[in-house]
Amino acid sequence: MSEEPPRPPRRKRYGGKNPRRFEDKYKEHDPARYAETIAKVIASGKTPAGSHIPILLEECIDALALQAGMVGVDATLGHGGHALGILQKIAPAGKLIGLDIDPMELPKTAARLAAKGFSEGCFEALRSNYAGIAKVIAARGLTGVDFVMADLGCSSMQFDNPSRGFSFKVAGPLDMRMNPERGLSASDWLAKVSVAKFENVLHDYSDEPRAGSIAVALAGNQFSSTLDFAQAIRESIRVSDEDERERTVRRVFQAVRIAVNEEFTALDAFLRELPRCLKPGGRAAILTFHSGEDRRVKQSFKAGIRDGLYSEMNDQVIIASDDERRLNPRSSSAKLRWVIRASDSD
Ligand SMILES: C[S@@+](CC[C@H](N)C(=O)[O-])C[C@H]1O[C@@H](n2cnc3c(N)ncnc32)[C@H](O)[C@@H]1O
Repeated sequence: MSEEPPRPPRRKRYGGKNPRRFEDKYKEHDPARYAETIAKVIASGKTPAGSHIPILLEECIDALALQAGMVGVDATLGHGGHALGILQKIAPAGKLIGLDIDPMELPKTAARLAAKGFSEGCFEALRSNYAGIAKVIAARGLTGVDFVMADLGCSSMQFDNPSRGFSFKVAGPLDMRMNPERGLSASDWLAKVSVAKFENVLHDYSDEPRAGSIAVALAGNQFSSTLDFAQAIRESIRVSDEDERERTVRRVFQAVRIAVNEEFTALDAFLRELPRCLKPGGRAAILTFHSGEDRRVKQSFKAGIRDGLYSEMNDQVIIASDDERRLNPRSSSAKLRWVIRASDSD
């Protein structure tokens, strides 16, 4: 009797020309093979699945005044868009240390940059919270670096992948952790949080005007999916304006995400450490995406100028051009601030 080998599973057929589900966008997930498709997606103002378009790239590179041979840190490596731009300026004699807490995306980004010729010698990818940037620098025998780049918040790979649980537009487990190996998922956090704490989080992390009533309605409840949570938020408020209802959902998701990832604790520690991580004359550039982040960066830079730690910062915040906003709507809320470390003689 002859035994037939098992047949490999068939790939699912797609009904239409353009797959809707994140996992089915197989061409977008394979940019090396489908460059034309990727270019079309970007030209239509969208971010290809599994990718991230770097924001204010030229402006960040200018702000850091990069030169061949410099040594620095990209504190939020993400998809490596800013890192690539930086490496093209500083390699091969320079060195970039790229940090990220995302255990899923970090190895992919390291492999992508290695495939472009940036690996040991000029680039090191490290799984680390940027709150510990000073230790990372000291552990490499450096007293300071020439530049530090930080592009705060989540990457498009995290937002767009339903299984990461960040999006209120697609169904997924209510998780929202950038590092799913640590801490509580958003679902567990909400089940445990008190009304008073949730109200503070909504108020402090997203300036939510209806913080009190939303906290009373939702704190301590268990939500199985992102869509269930989004619906519960809509039902917890009395608003006739559809757009305002959706803005509320967006704000609540943002506040819970910041809480679950302890983003402000990490950012405050990073900003405290930053001056001693930079060499005299060294520069830092930080991209923020909402008022809670921007306020912290601005206040820290201003305090550093007052205390003589920094010699200069930009007066006018740098924002994306109309063209960049059209091509990448995610750049619309971005603000870039830079600062220069004072030298002893300043
Ligand atoms: C906006 S993305 C960066 C995108 C990147 N500049 C690029 O061009 O691809 C932010 C990244 O920072 C990471 N991140 C957020 N908080 C972090 C922290 N405290 N320490 C290290 N990485 C962090 C996220 O996991 C995410 O990958």
